[in-house]
Amino acid sequence: MRILLFSGKGGVGKTSVAAATGVRLAELGHKTLVMSVDPAHSLADSFDLEGALFHGTTADPKSIHDNLWIQEVNIQREIKRHWNEIAGYITSVLRTSGLSDVEAEEMAIFPGMEELSAMMYVNQYLREKQFDVVVLDCAPTAESLRFVSLPTTLDWYVKHVFTLQRRVMKAVRPIINTLGPIEAPPDSYFGNIQSLFQKIQGIDTVLEDPRITSVRLVTNPEKMVLRETQRAFVYFSLHGLTVDQIIVNRVLPDEITDPFFEGWRKAQRGVLQDIEAYFAPVPVSTVPLFDHEVLGYAGLQELSDRLYRNTIDPSLVTRTEKPYEFTMVDGKYEVRLRMPFVQKAEIGLFKKNDELIVEVGTLRRHIGLPTTMAALVPVKARMEHDMLVVEMRNAT
Ligand SMILES: Nc1ncnc2c1ncn2[C@@H]1O[C@H](COP(=O)(O)OP(=O)(O)OP(=O)(O)O)[C@@H](O)[C@H]1O
Ligand SMILES: [Mg+2]
Repeated sequence: MRILLFSGKGGVGKTSVAAATGVRLAELGHKTLVMSVDPAHSLADSFDLEGALFHGTTADPKSIHDNLWIQEVNIQREIKRHWNEIAGYITSVLRTSGLSDVEAEEMAIFPGMEELSAMMYVNQYLREKQFDVVVLDCAPTAESLRFVSLPTTLDWYVKHVFTLQRRVMKAVRPIINTLGPIEAPPDSYFGNIQSLFQKIQGIDTVLEDPRITSVRLVTNPEKMVLRETQRAFVYFSLHGLTVDQIIVNRVLPDEITDPFFEGWRKAQRGVLQDIEAYFAPVPVSTVPLFDHEVLGYAGLQELSDRLYRNTIDPSLVTRTEKPYEFTMVDGKYEVRLRMPFVQKAEIGLFKKNDELIVEVGTLRRHIGLPTTMAALVPVKARMEHDMLVVEMRNAT
């Protein structure tokens, strides 16, 4: 199964491009699911499938065409399905702090639940081999980054916090219960966390395997949008995901000769050149601004015709370069990370247990080291073109 993840700044056309890709893949004969991971779903709208008949029926994969299914993850239902004990506990704690039932229930939906639920589905489809391709229509950049960083975060929590918390809780529950008013989590809370964790187990390896998962960044030919696209590129790389295509949407078509748009066209041309230069060798594709909204199956087909006019099959694996690798050169161990657009001064490096921690701005990535390197510490780092090379040595 292939996973194609579409991300980018708000409003650039992620949903339209993801849906159009689904249309093309289905036409090529692949069993394709387009899944919306954005809490503000607009996937069904993009296919122009509203109406009473359709309302609320996409929480499970819904067949809408030959070989084509769509799914909009419904958080309320996911909570009932997977999060009952956790949400129940959090709700009861919040209630004791004076919130009304409804408020407490609302608050118990914490950020990331939606993404995590989607991740469980991806893992399930992968196991059950139900689809050939799963296309993920993500929320704007920041949220989709939370999505891809969740597995490592959760892994960390389970390893470091929950196991410990559980042991401590067993010991202190009798005391807490007599003290009140905050109740200690019941055992089922921990059981719930563990079973959730099992459901997403292995998904990080799947996301980091370029033969399975590809990230496609959707952008517009505007400077501000480009900046966010560059940041997204860095962060996805930092999380070990491979970006294999940049899609520039809403390029002014040549036939627009109105002088009003002359300034826009010039600016777009400049940004397009920058995009080609910045992201090379990652291929860049363009989609023109249409004279109408992209809507419904026919509209999406039109978009896919333009976007994939030079592409045989959008699900083919075209780039397998890992964003980072471990090497040994002349007896020296090195971790090499692809970090375009980053200044060395912005990068922080730490070692904790068997992990190398890399910080870029406010983002942090734990990179699990292979056993041969687990005892080493980072001693030097240098930039080689767009690669950060971290030299590792024995700690003495
Ligand atoms: N090339 C295009 N030409 C004309 N209209 C377009 C084009 N691409 C997208 N649109 C329109 O722009 C609007 C926003 O597109 P879309 O919903 O795909 O963006 P998005 O990035 O998913 O937004 P969000 O960040 O809110 O999820 C839609 O009405 C869509 O039909
Ligand atoms: Mg969208």
